Amino acid sequence: MGLPPVWAVERAKIKGIVLIGTATTVAEARVIEASGLDAVIASGSDAGGHRGAFLSPVEESLVGTFSLIPQVADAVDIPVVAAGGVADRRGILAAHALGADGVQIGTGFLATAESGASDVHRKMLASSDAETTVLTRLFSGRHARGIVNSLIRELSAEEGAVPPYPLQNALMQPLRKAAAQLGESDYLNLWAGQAAPLAGRMSAAEYMESLV
Ligand SMILES: Cc1cc2nc3c(=O)[nH]c(=O)nc-3n(C[C@H](O)[C@H](O)[C@H](O)COP(=O)(O)O)c2cc1C
Repeated sequence: MGLPPVWAVERAKIKGIVLIGTATTVAEARVIEASGLDAVIASGSDAGGHRGAFLSPVEESLVGTFSLIPQVADAVDIPVVAAGGVADRRGILAAHALGADGVQIGTGFLATAESGASDVHRKMLASSDAETTVLTRLFSGRHARGIVNSLIRELSAEEGAVPPYPLQNALMQPLRKAAAQLGESDYLNLWAGQAAPLAGRMSAAEYMESLV
């Protein structure tokens, strides 16, 4: 969700730490390269979880993964990691064909046996509900992609009144905690990307093997 300060980049370089920034637009990828970071994640709007946009409002930074990858690959010389909507080997092949040097998978691993996602989250990822995801500010105050549930349906008209991150995040915490304890999917933030139905419902090792 932005760039590390110059002093942090300098100290990381002295210690030999590799820095990877997240870009949601070509402009952000250029800024990440100019800031001395070692690689860039091209995060398309298909991705699950929070949007990392930092130069323009999220609404103006919603480029789909497969439109973003080739443009970022053309714009920068540092390695490009594709993220968003990749959950099986077909997506990996396509990302590489479009110029990506690597691929980052989030949602795909959420469904694996070892993931820290709650049982109810995993159950929803395996259901047909996972076919419908949306970007919402309701849970945290920042746009994030998750599975549509009752809370999103009932409160989407109020989204304009939601305070910014991290205030809304703190306000919603007790509700999310209670919903998690009750295993109640209708009031939980069920982060998931658009490729959620392709996610690996197996062990992480088996999933990794299927990707390779
Ligand atoms: C539950 C969840 C939490 C995430 N948390 C972070 C995070 O803290 N920092 C980050 O850079 N990306 C985070 N991501 C984004 C992933 O690193 C990855 O870029 C993204 O999930 C790729 O898209 P996909 O979900 O379609 O695979 C998160 C994604 C999910 C689904």
